[in-house]
Amino acid sequence: MERIAVIGAGSWGTALAKLLAEKGNDVLLWAYEPEVADAINREHRNLLYLPETELPATLRATPDAPEAVEGRSYVISVVPSKALRNVWSGLASHLATEAVVVSCTKGIEAAGLKLMSEVLDECLPDHPAANRTVLSGPSFAKEVARHLPTSVVIAGSDAQVRRRVQELFRTPMFLTFTHDDVVGVEVGGAVKNVLAIATGMADGLMLGHNARATSITRGLYEMIKIGQALGASPLTFMGLSGIGDLVLTCTGELSRNRTVGLELGRGRSLAEIQSEMRTVAEGVPTAEAVHKFSLERHIELPICERTYRVMYEGLSPHQALLELCALPLNAELGSIMRAQRVS
Ligand SMILES: NC(=O)c1ccc[n+]([C@@H]2O[C@H](COP(=O)([O-])OP(=O)(O)OC[C@H]3O[C@@H](n4cnc5c(N)ncnc54)[C@H](O)[C@@H]3O)[C@@H](O)[C@H]2O)c1
Repeated sequence: MERIAVIGAGSWGTALAKLLAEKGNDVLLWAYEPEVADAINREHRNLLYLPETELPATLRATPDAPEAVEGRSYVISVVPSKALRNVWSGLASHLATEAVVVSCTKGIEAAGLKLMSEVLDECLPDHPAANRTVLSGPSFAKEVARHLPTSVVIAGSDAQVRRRVQELFRTPMFLTFTHDDVVGVEVGGAVKNVLAIATGMADGLMLGHNARATSITRGLYEMIKIGQALGASPLTFMGLSGIGDLVLTCTGELSRNRTVGLELGRGRSLAEIQSEMRTVAEGVPTAEAVHKFSLERHIELPICERTYRVMYEGLSPHQALLELCALPLNAELGSIMRAQRVS
């Protein structure tokens, strides 16, 4: 039995805490909203974020984050990207050096264009980076909570730590593969949310299945370009955290980012759509980060760029489509193939 903290009681944090508690571990779940912690302790339900799921009675929750982290061997971080820096800045002094941190947040910090692992590096200067891993892949919380078959990757720099985390999460229906390309795994998990908004928009405009497949595939090309610029291996994007999560998020009914795109395509504004959502759609802030990245690095990302302009600059989805269709057509995988030949 391991002593585990889960930081963040949204739908994903709650589903992972449930999985770990069902494996017989001692799990303490930190909830930002005190009423969420209260309902988990009293009614064994997270009424705000995973209401339909009954939670194990052994799973305890607290609104006190330092209390959750103190003395825990594993700390699973599942806060939204916008809150990551703030939450972890207050936790550094409570985290044991030997504790293993598993980061499950998917996003890029727009202010400094930082991946989530880089934000953690900055917030935890005394905690060894080798003791940190990333968990990512095609995984809707609601399906994991129902024990439906799911596969994810655990990425980290230390092989032994990766294997420990792999074993920690593995169940008969939750398959954990390992990976050493942390940057590639994080880029895939972040950028797929922007592409899900784009693909949702195409579906909202009722452009058909050909357009949907084009959006996913050309989107994958943009994802790989971003990854390569940051030193990731292009092959990583052929795996669960790349194409796997991209397909799930672009096509799955449960995807919030796809839902945002659908509604944009149907003519609603971002402000209107977001005013009705309690849960996070990480693609919205990540689109801003990717936009800044493309300007800074002079990398052409036509789909991500149009998605950003629809959300932040009032470009109409129909005009975005016309612009994309009018782009000059080059060799399909041009810059990726060129980079491969050079290296
Ligand atoms: N839901 C999924 O199926 C799923 C799957 C894989 C990864 N993820 C990733 O996990 C992360 C968390 O997403 P989620 O779906 O669990 O969240 P959610 O949308 O279900 O819930 C929002 C969460 O944000 C918290 N929150 C809101 N404001 C906060 C603040 N100021 N400070 C700290 N916490 C605050 C809420 O308490 C809640 O825990 C995201 O990066 C998401 O991309 C989600």
